[in-house]
Amino acid sequence: MAGSALWFFLLLAAALAGRATALWPWPQYIQTSDLRYPIFPHNFQFQYHVSSAAQPGCSVLDEAFQRYRDLLFGSDFWHRPDPAEKQHTLEINSLVIHVATPGCDQLPSLESAENYTLTINDEQNFLFSETVWGALRGLETFSQLVWRSPEGTFFINKTEIEDFPRFPHRGLLLDTSRHYLPLSSILNTLDVMAYSKFNVFHWHMVDDPSFPYESFTFPELTRKGSYNPATHIYTAQDVKEVIEYARLRGIRVLVEFDTPGHTQSWGPGAPGLLTPCYSGSQPSGTFGPVNPILNSTYEFMSTFFLEVSSVFPDFYLHLGGDEVDFSCWKSNPDIQDFMKKKGFGNDFKKLESFYIQTLLDIVSAYGKGYVVWQEVFDNKVKVRPDTIIQVWREEAPVSYMKELELVTNASFRALLSAPWYLNHITYGPDWEKVYMVEPLAFDGTPEQKALVIGGEACMWGEYVDSTNLVPRLWPRAGAVAERLWSSKLVTNLDFASKRLADFRCELLRRGIQAQPLNVGYCEQEFEET
Ligand SMILES: *[C@@H]1O[C@H](CO)[C@@H](O)[C@H](O)[C@H]1NC(C)=O
Ligand SMILES: *[C@@H]1O[C@H](CO)[C@@H](O)[C@H](O)[C@H]1NC(C)=O
Ligand SMILES: *[C@@H]1O[C@H](CO)[C@@H](O)[C@H](O)[C@H]1NC(C)=O
Ligand SMILES: *[C@@H]1O[C@H](CO)[C@@H](O)[C@H](O)[C@H]1NC(C)=O
Repeated sequence: MAGSALWFFLLLAAALAGRATALWPWPQYIQTSDLRYPIFPHNFQFQYHVSSAAQPGCSVLDEAFQRYRDLLFGSDFWHRPDPAEKQHTLEINSLVIHVATPGCDQLPSLESAENYTLTINDEQNFLFSETVWGALRGLETFSQLVWRSPEGTFFINKTEIEDFPRFPHRGLLLDTSRHYLPLSSILNTLDVMAYSKFNVFHWHMVDDPSFPYESFTFPELTRKGSYNPATHIYTAQDVKEVIEYARLRGIRVLVEFDTPGHTQSWGPGAPGLLTPCYSGSQPSGTFGPVNPILNSTYEFMSTFFLEVSSVFPDFYLHLGGDEVDFSCWKSNPDIQDFMKKKGFGNDFKKLESFYIQTLLDIVSAYGKGYVVWQEVFDNKVKVRPDTIIQVWREEAPVSYMKELELVTNASFRALLSAPWYLNHITYGPDWEKVYMVEPLAFDGTPEQKALVIGGEACMWGEYVDSTNLVPRLWPRAGAVAERLWSSKLVTNLDFASKRLADFRCELLRRGIQAQPLNVGYCEQEFEET
């Protein structure tokens, strides 16, 4: 470890002297030199060897090669080199990708290895990985290593990289309920997630304001709960497209259907599901969280989550469980009776636990794992030992670092989001605070630290729709991406600022309208796509 730290600092010194390429996120081990090799797009090809008998083709790699060829060379594909330059340099005309285990038609999972080794030297140019997912990460790195001379020739320097993620769950949350995001916004986000090596799209699909998910078992939910059932919904075809688009980029889709709170939009399409609130002895006409005392509620949830479990193939579902407002439950005489019968006294957390417990049992029976927001843990709901707890509250009831300590001490796995709410913006380079968070800076044993499987950047949608999503996300989310991928030693802000600014320029070149980090300019601003 001491050796690798020294190596890192030597590289850092070289980078600060202005010699590093703009890699983002920074790899675990890298060695580069000034020896450069030209690449002539018309001569260059990607080749692959997937160790498997009679592999007819690998969609994940074939499509990635197409994407990266376009990203690298774009319309300059046929650019002719200066012949003088060709004579004294070794040309690189292929990158050979070796994948040890097949699985081109599978889905990435929490357990997928994303390691890769990239070698560019006089003898060979190859990318070695355990899985196709690792190959995707390596291809992205390769694409960031290629640079262009002022004359327009492409080059890559002699390089040796050994890379792997620090955390296996590197997520980004989009909220498609507070504002509907068109499919193109979601697909575009998945592209940039792949550029920054995020691997989980947390789809906070529905919430109080709207229900855009088109359910085939309960079509009334979207008909009555979406902003517009003709235009502002995600059809089965849309959902399939998102899942496949994500898969081709090594990204898992973790869908969230948050209950029992945050469910106002479910009400119109599912009569009887929500709790009627009372004003004195009369129903007030308004509704609260899901009604936890009716058998019909659990019948509904069984049917609904059976559908969700088959539509979304990832092993994990996110079941929400945050911010349940008890005032409506308190006002309802039937709920009061139920509380008495169950011996819950006046403790509405017990009623919430009763609901969540039953829901978790339903979902477990479908062979799924689940992620929940931290309140489920705080309220001492009995959950399966393999539950993942997502920590999102900054301070209450305790600081998020203390919460990580408590969650892992109880042997649960944890995800950190509290310091990474990117919908919060402040004047100045606010990515720095996000970047400097050290997710394991809590008191705990090595076993506890190993239970933190990663984290998520969250982009809640109150003040965000497709007009401002891209510049608000990028490059700021990149700060979280690097924190979750790179070594914990990579914390130098000067080093990061320069690379993140370069990464942002590269995003512009790739057609992503990422906002500036500070004063300055990019060589290629606002390229048409
Ligand atoms: C690549 O090599 C060129 C010279 O051939 C040098 O100017 C540049 O700094 C090198 N880049 C890296 C990342 O080493
Ligand atoms: C990936 O790299 C990590 C860190 O070096 C190592 O612990 C792990 O065994 C590697 N996994 C594979 C599949 O190579
Ligand atoms: C609800 O289900 C429970 C357990 O299956 C049963 O004991 C109870 O009678 C049911 N209540 C109603 C109102 O149907
Ligand atoms: C950790 O958990 C144990 C029980 O497993 C408990 O005795 C101890 O108080 C907990 N520590 C903290 C800091 O919560």
